[in-house]
Amino acid sequence: MSYNINITKIEKSKVSDLDFNNIPLGTTFTDHMFICDYDNGQWGNPRIEPLETIPTHPAAMALHYGQAIFEGMKATVDKDGNPMLFRANKNAARLNTSADRMGMPNFPEDLFVEGLKQLVDIERNWIPPQEGSALYLRPFMYADEPFIGMRAATHYKFIIIASPSNAMYSNRIKLWAEKQYIRAANGGTGEAKAAGNYAAAIRPTELAKAKGYDQVLWLDANEHRYIQEVGTMNIFFMIDGKFITPKRDGSILDGITRMSVIDVLRDKGYEVTETMITIDEIKTASRSGTLQEAFGTGTAVGIAYIQEIGLDGEVIHVSDQSPVANDVNDTLNAIKTGKVEDKFNWMTKIKN
Ligand code: COI
Repeated sequence: MSYNINITKIEKSKVSDLDFNNIPLGTTFTDHMFICDYDNGQWGNPRIEPLETIPTHPAAMALHYGQAIFEGMKATVDKDGNPMLFRANKNAARLNTSADRMGMPNFPEDLFVEGLKQLVDIERNWIPPQEGSALYLRPFMYADEPFIGMRAATHYKFIIIASPSNAMYSNRIKLWAEKQYIRAANGGTGEAKAAGNYAAAIRPTELAKAKGYDQVLWLDANEHRYIQEVGTMNIFFMIDGKFITPKRDGSILDGITRMSVIDVLRDKGYEVTETMITIDEIKTASRSGTLQEAFGTGTAVGIAYIQEIGLDGEVIHVSDQSPVANDVNDTLNAIKTGKVEDKFNWMTKIKN
């Protein structure tokens, strides 16, 4: 379907104020945003406007009942400066999986991709060219109907904002294996990219940080043994030359970097198994010297090398060398910057 996206541009871009070598994630926003409204059972009025604050009714249902979901993705530039999107159709589909779980309307996937393309085209000068840096894109949907009462809202906004950023972590990170709090239980919202999942993680993450850790490693809700995912990423381990990652069982995020890393590892000849993994297995592998690598994967973090995992007074050490994860990271960056052939057909180029 073809869409007519109304475009209103700002008079003068703020991009000239940006120091491209000093942009922490999520602190700087571009000039415009894409917006679309859901009313009377359909999405309408897609538009790109100057980014500004949006008046919100105090009874807007997202504020009370949490119907709010989001996506994270990145635009990069190829060696000729042409913007490209990474696996945009996967984000479009995942937003709708989240919407289904949260009783929210689906957003047309072709309009999702078209809105992104047109927004990124307008904001192309904001894309940091350095490898590992990118224009982070945040599509999200929330219930903005004013109503007090428990039911699905009938009015929503879908918005895409864009925020340039440098790489999130430059150091190896430390994880805290959490046994008191949980992120997701069977039948819950763990697979949805729902705002509430992140809200519930804030306090445990603060406690982990106070102990000197960077992020929480979430364990299953029943036995606190099975590894699920990390605060803002999925997780991989290399044991005895083979990779394992927690299998999707409805309680972990269907990470787009996760699925891409599985493809790249298999393409490089490694065996990757999606399976149930206990924290004890990882402890044993570390003690016996067979735990070779451990790393997290996510849109914002890219690939984050893990240094250690803390649990109940013990520490699981990980080797400080990550040759395979490093190689996978280089391959992903090379695909995202057009330095190697896009053999998986993941990139969408944005023409002038
Ligand atoms: C992402 O990696 O894109 C995420 O959504 C995590 C976010 C909390 C930074």
